[in-house]
Amino acid sequence: MALRSVALQAQNRTSSFFILTQRLVHRVQTQSVRAFSSAILSPPSKAVVYELHGSPDAVTRVIELPPVEVKENDVCVKMLAAPINPSDINRIEGVYPVRPQVPAVGGYEGVGEVHSVGSAVKDLSPGDWVIPSPPSFGTWQSYIVKDQNVWHKINKDLPMEYAATVTVNPLTALRMLDDYISLNSGDAIVQNGATSIVGQCIIQIARYRGIHNVNIIRDRAGSDEVKERLKSLGADEVFTESKLEVKNVKSLLGNTPEPALGFNCVGGNAASLVLKFLRQGGTMVTYGGMSKKPVTVSTSSFIFKDLSLRGFWLQKWMTTDKAKESRIMIDYLLGLVREEKLKYEMELVPFDSFHVALDKALGKLGSHPKQVIKF
Ligand SMILES: NC(=O)c1ccc[n+]([C@@H]2O[C@H](COP(=O)([O-])OP(=O)(O)OC[C@H]3O[C@@H](n4cnc5c(N)ncnc54)[C@H](OP(=O)(O)O)[C@@H]3O)[C@@H](O)[C@H]2O)c1
Repeated sequence: MALRSVALQAQNRTSSFFILTQRLVHRVQTQSVRAFSSAILSPPSKAVVYELHGSPDAVTRVIELPPVEVKENDVCVKMLAAPINPSDINRIEGVYPVRPQVPAVGGYEGVGEVHSVGSAVKDLSPGDWVIPSPPSFGTWQSYIVKDQNVWHKINKDLPMEYAATVTVNPLTALRMLDDYISLNSGDAIVQNGATSIVGQCIIQIARYRGIHNVNIIRDRAGSDEVKERLKSLGADEVFTESKLEVKNVKSLLGNTPEPALGFNCVGGNAASLVLKFLRQGGTMVTYGGMSKKPVTVSTSSFIFKDLSLRGFWLQKWMTTDKAKESRIMIDYLLGLVREEKLKYEMELVPFDSFHVALDKALGKLGSHPKQVIKF
């Protein structure tokens, strides 16, 4: 029935989309046909798919995929929520260093509820909440079937949007605060992109550890409200970029010490401002490039300030030995959420409005909180 509906839908669309549907359906059908001896099949899945790399609003479609086999070690998960992160957009655009083979289903993290389990699965049961850990491709769909090892069981006592978003951004914030220089209570950090989820997590984890934090945001209407919101999370100082057009930015620091560590997810002028705040011998970690502008460093920053420039990429970190502890770190972060020591702004959007959420995530409708799809 679902297969027939996919085929009928496909006939009504463009030829390239028809090919996409055929390929995905074929891929899924092949698994289903092999499954005839098995008693368990997943329900059909509604999925955001793309066949070509390109602008996500042009290349993504929502289609229905047929049921697949739930093999003995598999777990079928009914997805509850999944965010649209900048890296999801970059993967679809084809500008990310690692990207799934097309046709592909979008998304990389999320939370779901176990729907059914294969005969050899003992540690998970229907009704459990799970997240893919490490995160993995294809979370923008209503049902996912993957090996039991992919899934990390979490407590169900949290809002689903936090469980859906805990891995990519909060874990990045935690690692970047711990992995570059040893910070002690009383030290300071500086960051741009402070309104991002990573930025909001850095503010709160730093504050919780007694580390001062200096924050840079884009100029916008209503910037005073944004400043107040970040201060209520624990920001010591919040500056718009234009407020930092002064000869000596450090004169604006008041009692806050000169930052030893800086975080840059924007590039261009916003990265130069982070560098200006850093103390002698300081380090700037670049982990994003939202402005798509390069990082430019003056010669004097190297010679007279001896600054160090580093980079962080969670996907690479996930392949290191330290990542064996990542599930413990995720439980720690979810614990902070439970204790209300970690919170950030999100907007839950019904799956039917996926393309509106995508437009917001693409910045086509101005600045918006993190868009989280609710299935
Ligand atoms: N390297 C890694 O492993 C890793 C891991 C996680 C995240 N990241 C990166 O971290 C960054 C933040 O991710 P997120 O999910 O936390 O972000 P988010 O919550 O989706 O927020 C997006 C942020 O980007 C800013 N922004 C958007 N377009 C911009 C532009 N053209 N110029 C300057 N700033 C712009 C927004 O500022 P406004 O509030 O002013 O709109 C907001 O602060 C992204 O670059 C992401 O790729 C990297």
